[in-house]
Amino acid sequence: MSKRYFSKRVLEMRPSMIRELVKKYYGKADIVDLTSGKPHPSTFPVEIIKELINDALDKASAAVLQYGPTLGYSELIKQLKSFIEKRYGINLSNQDIIVTTGSAQALDLIGATLINPGEVLIVEAPTYTNAIDAFTQYNAKFVQIPIDEQGMMVEKVEEELRRLRSDGVNVKFLYTIPTFHNPAGITMSEDRRKYLLELASKYDFLIVEDDAYRELSYSDEVVPPAIKRWDSEGRVIYCGTFSKVLAPGFRVGWMVAEPETIRMFEIVKQRRDLHTSTFCQFIASEYIRRGYLEQHVLKIRQFYRPKLKVMLNALEEYMPEGFTWTKPEGGMFVWVIGPTGLNTTYMLSRAVENGVAYVPGEAFYVDGSVKNAMRLNFSFPDEEEIAEGVKRLAKTCSEEIIQR
Ligand SMILES: Cc1ncc(COP(=O)(O)O)c(C=O)c1O
Repeated sequence: MSKRYFSKRVLEMRPSMIRELVKKYYGKADIVDLTSGKPHPSTFPVEIIKELINDALDKASAAVLQYGPTLGYSELIKQLKSFIEKRYGINLSNQDIIVTTGSAQALDLIGATLINPGEVLIVEAPTYTNAIDAFTQYNAKFVQIPIDEQGMMVEKVEEELRRLRSDGVNVKFLYTIPTFHNPAGITMSEDRRKYLLELASKYDFLIVEDDAYRELSYSDEVVPPAIKRWDSEGRVIYCGTFSKVLAPGFRVGWMVAEPETIRMFEIVKQRRDLHTSTFCQFIASEYIRRGYLEQHVLKIRQFYRPKLKVMLNALEEYMPEGFTWTKPEGGMFVWVIGPTGLNTTYMLSRAVENGVAYVPGEAFYVDGSVKNAMRLNFSFPDEEEIAEGVKRLAKTCSEEIIQR
């Protein structure tokens, strides 16, 4: 079909670098795949899912195979409410929930509901690629704030807010992944979380808190509370997902926000997909109700902890001088920074020749400006593959530096 049939909007879309890389390297026997953000398939609770599916069809087929409300299956909302209150200490008395088709849809709904063309958002640099893409669709403008081991550098947020205010510009919302960040793996300190909330109140903007990795904690340190927990003014839209703690194939996520905000999300979602799969919501709901989620989280923490250790040890052992990396305590990723002048996008073909693939850092910047970093995933490859993959990567980096 001729290109002229496609909308201008679609022709301007860039393909997702991560999804394209996953498509290219997934399942290639000779390549260690450090690209994706996939859970390890052995963590999928297959027997439990079979039991829940059989029960769903035996006892509730009329409901689970039927259309459902846009806000979500009522029993799942009930289960989520008690889970969130109990585990995250978030007070839901004046808040509401909408179930989404993964948090990917939550990001799209947020963009569609809140962003007028040209409005300004604050994001971490680096940040989650699909969030950049989701918000770019609505012609947002971005202000990027660097991160360090304590998360988003909040004093720089304040500097930017002051600068924007003096130019007469308001910020619509700040998007953050404060816990086991994607791609950097780091966690924002409690002080910075509180400070962000103060800034949101002072400069009148919203915070989108994407907490996809909260449950994937591998250290004995207590994970700082969600920003949402201190949100007394209804400024935080909190996003969660079953993708990392049950199975991403279910495509079930959720958002917590003030009832008026949730109502607007509901109206937009009515036009998107009517509702998230009733069947999948039913399984997710029973998974919480029967206490499986809490047990499963403990299991996957045990499972991923040594993988992270293998990756950090291998980096220590093999990487050439001039490279640094984050030391996450949870999540799925380590962020590696190379010497200035290194171009990891360019280096990828050499890495693939050497039998390893990663995601080049530029994918995680709005303007693609940082070229010398890369994201490595440790949840999907096996331990031996992680060690071998890092060894191959280190060889690639050494070759690349010599050649420059
Ligand atoms: C930070 C972050 N947010 C959202 C998502 C989307 O998750 P899903 O749509 O599977 O719920 C991901 C997936 O990798 C993520 O890393």
